[in-house]
Amino acid sequence: MVKIAPSILSADFTNLGREVESVSSGDLLHFDVMDGVFVPNISFGLPVLKALRPVTALPLDVHLMITRPLNFVERFCDLGADIVTVHAEADEPDRIREALLRIKARGKRAGLSIKPATPVSACEPYAGLLDNILIMAVEPGFGGQSFMENAPEKIAQAAALVRRWGVDCDIEVDGGVNRETARLCREAGATVLVAGSHIFKAPDRAEEIRLLRGI
Ligand code: DX5
Ligand code: ZN
Repeated sequence: MVKIAPSILSADFTNLGREVESVSSGDLLHFDVMDGVFVPNISFGLPVLKALRPVTALPLDVHLMITRPLNFVERFCDLGADIVTVHAEADEPDRIREALLRIKARGKRAGLSIKPATPVSACEPYAGLLDNILIMAVEPGFGGQSFMENAPEKIAQAAALVRRWGVDCDIEVDGGVNRETARLCREAGATVLVAGSHIFKAPDRAEEIRLLRGI
C-alpha cells in the first residue's frame, strides 16, 4: 500500500504541535528544508526538527532543498531524521555520493531528489546507495503548485530502475498531489506520496489521507 507523507510546509506554524498531531494517521511526516539559495524560498531547519522529534511517533522524512547538503546531513540525522533526501542538482556528484554515504553510516534511509527537468538517469551513478528516489512534480520551493504532466512517466522510469537494481527503494512523489494526481502516481508505481496543501486545507485531514491511499 502506498505511504502518505503530509508536508508540514502547509501547516499553521503558530500551532505546529497540534498540526502534526492532526496528521498522525499518515505514514511519514515530510519536512521541507529550504535555504533561499538552492530554491527561492526559506522555510525551517534544525531547531524545528529537534522540537518536533519528541511530539510525533511518525518517521521524519527530511527533504533538503539546500546547496552543499554534505555540510548538514549528519546534523539532521542526529536530531532525529529517519529519511534524509538530498537533491542531485545541489552539488558535484562526488559530494552528493559522500552525503548519501554519511546518511547511511548514521543508520538512516538515504534519498536522492530530482527536479522536474532532471532525468531519472541522474540516479544511476548512485546505484546501491539509495533507499528513496524523490520525483519532484513541481519546481521545488513552494507548496500549492500544480502537478506537472511529465511526473507519471518519470515515476514509471524510476520504478523500472529500482526493479532493475532489485533493491528496496521507495519512489516518492512531491508536489501537486491531490486525489486525482495521487491516482496517477499510484498507477505509475509511486510508493510514497507527499501532500501539503491538499491535506492541510481539508476539513477532515484523516479522511483525506485515507482517500489519497486510494483504498
Ligand atoms: C515543495 C515541497 C513540497 C510541498 C508540497 O518544494 O518540497 O513538499 O510541501 O506542497 P503541495 O502538496 O501543496 O504541492
Ligand atoms: Zn518536499
